Amino acid sequence: MQISQRTQVGIVGAGPAGLVLSHLLHLHGIESIVVENRSRQYVEERVRAGVLEQGTVNLLTEMGVGERMKAEGLVHYGIELRFGGRGHRIDFHELTGGKGITIYAQNEVLRDLNNARIATGGQVLFEVENVSIHDFDDTRPKIRYRKDGADYEVSCDFIAGCDGFHGICRPSIPAGVLTEYDRVYPFGWLGILAEAPPSAEELVYTYHDRGFALLSMRTPHISRLYLQCKPDENIDHWEDERIWRELHTRFASDGWKLTEGPILQKGVTGMRSFVVEPMQYGSLFLAGDSAHIVPPTGAKGLNLAIADVTVLARALHRFYATGNRSLLDQYSSTCLRRVWKVQRFSWWMTSMLHRFPDENPFDRRRQLAELDYVTTSRAASTSLAENYVGLPME
Ligand code: APR
Ligand code: PHB
Repeated sequence: MQISQRTQVGIVGAGPAGLVLSHLLHLHGIESIVVENRSRQYVEERVRAGVLEQGTVNLLTEMGVGERMKAEGLVHYGIELRFGGRGHRIDFHELTGGKGITIYAQNEVLRDLNNARIATGGQVLFEVENVSIHDFDDTRPKIRYRKDGADYEVSCDFIAGCDGFHGICRPSIPAGVLTEYDRVYPFGWLGILAEAPPSAEELVYTYHDRGFALLSMRTPHISRLYLQCKPDENIDHWEDERIWRELHTRFASDGWKLTEGPILQKGVTGMRSFVVEPMQYGSLFLAGDSAHIVPPTGAKGLNLAIADVTVLARALHRFYATGNRSLLDQYSSTCLRRVWKVQRFSWWMTSMLHRFPDENPFDRRRQLAELDYVTTSRAASTSLAENYVGLPME
């Protein structure tokens, strides 16, 4: 026996894309049901990104979910590029007319969004199983799922595929519709969360003979650090002492000291650039990591997911308010203009700062020239700054 449900927008996935979309739709008086296969606790404790663009901060504030972010987030107006043992600050405030970024963990954003959804009667269903989507090539799409031993079918007007790179929505689109653009990088990042006060006020991106390293943070007491490693690095080969030793080497700079502390979490993530075109098919709209992946060097994944659903929410609001489908029909092309600019920036940051196994001496000199240019040319550092704080939404 199948239990029937009805809503206007069915959303698969309760990550940043799914939850921001659900709450934006609520604010426009549009109903949605979100189905998520993980538990709420898992989603709110999963260690992910931590950099919010100015536009993301403004949106979350306007949505009424920015209170804790404003109280606990760390506002930064620059980053440091470190190479040759010397640091060079990129001054966002000066170069972008006062814009900055906010360091606030993605899982905390999700915690705030879940609380807002619950407080406003939102339907976010966790720990569902066997999610599938149907009939989205016509106007009566459906989501089917299983929960607590019962089978459900949600009839809706539209489906938002916010289920990430490994979700079921993108693969449900018939063969031959999508074009994939993919670049897998020959390295990964070993990341740690450490109970250690950050050793710098702002993020430090380091280019070193032994590979890239990044100093970030979560709070004044928790550091988030990464170092370039093999793409298939076995984390078991990296005991804490070895990780700290390598970080000290890569960050070494006169008069500067990296503070150690107990490592609370460690893991290895691969690096890829990925885009599918188009990002929509019939009544199905892909958003966030279900449609694209960026290497984390530009800190864009979370922000790009939220940019997608900002476009989708605006289009759905126009449709339900006027019956006009034009913004819905333009969803994919609108999103892809930003997606490809963010892909370019993320690729550029990655290519400039990492050692490549197939590089030659020319490549090394070219990278050093790129870093020298970016840190001495106002035009070049302005380009980095305006991309890093977030390009204007269309
Ligand atoms: N059924 C239901 N939920 C699913 C399914 C499924 N078959 N497959 C995946 N999900 C859920 C995942 O458990 C996850 O909570 O969809 C959600 C997708 O969230 P994200 O992967 O975070 O993707 P997105 O919302 O696009 O946000 C992108 O999150 O992963 C980071 O680095 C990424 O910062 C970027 C941001
Ligand atoms: C992080 O704080 O997790 C972070 C910051 C900047 C990046 C990537 C990750 O480029």
